[in-house]
Amino acid sequence: MIGNEVERVVVTEDEISAKVKELAGRIETDYRDRDLLMVGVLKGAIMAMADLSRALQRHVDMDWMAVSSYGSGTKSSGVVRILKDLDRDITGREVLIVEDIVDSGLTLSWLKANLESRGAKSVEILAILRKPDAAKVDVKVKYVGFEIPADFVVGYGLDYNEKYRNLPFVGVLAKHMYS
Ligand code: IMP
Ligand code: MG
Repeated sequence: MIGNEVERVVVTEDEISAKVKELAGRIETDYRDRDLLMVGVLKGAIMAMADLSRALQRHVDMDWMAVSSYGSGTKSSGVVRILKDLDRDITGREVLIVEDIVDSGLTLSWLKANLESRGAKSVEILAILRKPDAAKVDVKVKYVGFEIPADFVVGYGLDYNEKYRNLPFVGVLAKHMYS
């Protein structure tokens, strides 16, 4: 059981599903009578996109980007490379970036500026998780699921060496699982 490889659960499956419903309610209110294009950041945001979009009782367009932030190991550097770009022009669109986690915030601040430069009408950010370091970077995250401690976490889309994305909760791996 991969769940047993987790030492400590940080956010439970029930907490996530309640939070997703709450965030979806806020999005419905904020975007009432407005366009909504959700841009999921691959691969971490897959679970959040799947759950959030199904909790929305309105039309929503979905697109995806894959970016890689150069950096060693578990730290990102702020230098971002686009691995997969959006399929469509977003001029005049109301974009909501969906991310798994804001850590240093460098990836998101780059991405937000990039999408704004393409002429989007608005660009807001949703992140399921936010770590304390995010406060240091000036990037406004409009919707935050949970504020968590600085530990490296896995699950609900987040990986360690491409594994654990499929855990339905968020947790810290047992020490001996890191190689
Ligand atoms: P940032 O640029 O430092 O905010 O890093 C953002 C990206 O780093 C996220 O989209 C994740 O892919 C990855 N990341 C940051 N913290 C964690 C973590 O605790 N577990 C897994 N991936 C993480
Ligand atoms: Mg990510």
